[in-house]
Amino acid sequence: MNSTVGIDALAFAGPAAFVEMTDLAGARGVDPAKYLKGLGQRRMAIASPCEDPVTMATEAARRAMQGFGIEPEEIGTLIVGTETGVDHSKPVAVYLHELLGLDRRCRTFETKHACYGASAGLTASMDWIASGRARGRKALVVASDIARYGVGTAGEPTQGAGAVAMVVADKPRLLALDSTRIGDYTRQVMDFWRPLYSKYAFADGQYPIECYLDALRGAREDAVGEGGALLENLGACLYHVPFVKMAFKAHQREMEVELGRSLSKDDNDAWRRLTDSYQRLTSPWLGLNAEIGNIYTGSLFLSLIDLLRQAAATLSGHEISMFSYGSGCGATYSIGRIEESAAEWRHALDPAEQLAARRRLTIAEYEDLIEQSERADTVERLDPAQYGLAGGLYYLGTRDHVRQYAQG
Ligand code: CAA
Repeated sequence: MNSTVGIDALAFAGPAAFVEMTDLAGARGVDPAKYLKGLGQRRMAIASPCEDPVTMATEAARRAMQGFGIEPEEIGTLIVGTETGVDHSKPVAVYLHELLGLDRRCRTFETKHACYGASAGLTASMDWIASGRARGRKALVVASDIARYGVGTAGEPTQGAGAVAMVVADKPRLLALDSTRIGDYTRQVMDFWRPLYSKYAFADGQYPIECYLDALRGAREDAVGEGGALLENLGACLYHVPFVKMAFKAHQREMEVELGRSLSKDDNDAWRRLTDSYQRLTSPWLGLNAEIGNIYTGSLFLSLIDLLRQAAATLSGHEISMFSYGSGCGATYSIGRIEESAAEWRHALDPAEQLAARRRLTIAEYEDLIEQSERADTVERLDPAQYGLAGGLYYLGTRDHVRQYAQG
């Protein structure tokens, strides 16, 4: 390993309500197996009008800082990655800066590149630390998004919402990243996008999947070279997860790159090798993605949380790979090592309690929430209690063009 910089603290925060995939399938007249097995999703988190990228990001950041004993004055850079920002000009990050009580001597900005924004923030933070500019301070990088495709669309079962906060530091407690094995990839493609006038994203059918897999090959090659036998030496392979089945397609592509040929089910031995490798390296860490849905730029890091909460002790000292993809498109493939101390912190990053407290929405309630969210920016006074919310930070509406937030 050629670096001692990496992820020192990690936490998730998301909406208080969810939709069960079997309920959605019933309402849309679709075989539930398509959502459960075909896409691999069990539930999707749904944000109410009072839960937005600012409130989710702040909550995740508070959990990461409090859970890992990090004081506001230790943070010298704050980056929020989001593709669902709340303003064309003002960054979500500057709201967080105030809400978290961070020091004024802090570099604060927002990054947008579809699901790649937080990964760009992570590598930028590593560079900031490695350059010596951090002067012993840490960086806070938060991924926060609401994935919406619209009622009745093909993308509907792959929605979700949530935020993941990471503190990036020298000598990290959780995961050290190898700065010499980080590979990048960029290509202009119209696979998935959301024009300024639309609350909903557009995706060009199966084309985003093709672009994702091309980018995986390109970024991996830039990180570790062509082909090679990397997988058998890794403890886990994590991917950007727009829906769980995508991680299988990604793992298949990685193995094809290693073997230098395409794989199909007819090729019994090779297919068994692929499914065994997937069961060992990827599938055990997709539980949170299946429960929460696509959270765009935080999706990869949701898998990392799942891995660390379950296997930080058994995989201590092992190397893992992480692939981040943002439509449009940009990607990064990186190699990291799970630190010995990670096992001590697994309770601090486990969101099991939050998830158990969520409320199941009926499909009528879900559709109503989506409709109300459409108008949330033009409403002067929202009431969190109306959505069963209490005790958190909530968005209360926009007055005189100024967004209002309050601790409930
Ligand atoms: N039982 C079991 N499986 C079934 C089934 C059934 N009854 N019916 C269908 N399936 C399977 C299909 O065979 C298919 O599996 P394979 O891909 O392994 O063949 C799977 O279920 C999905 O079926 P379709 O491809 O027919 O589904 P669709 O066309 O209706 O929609 C989608 C799929 C294109 C992903 C759509 O959900 C979508 O547009 N999602 C949003 C875009 C997206 O997430 N793209 C992913 C890459 S882009 C990215 O990564 C950035 C990002 O975060 C958005």
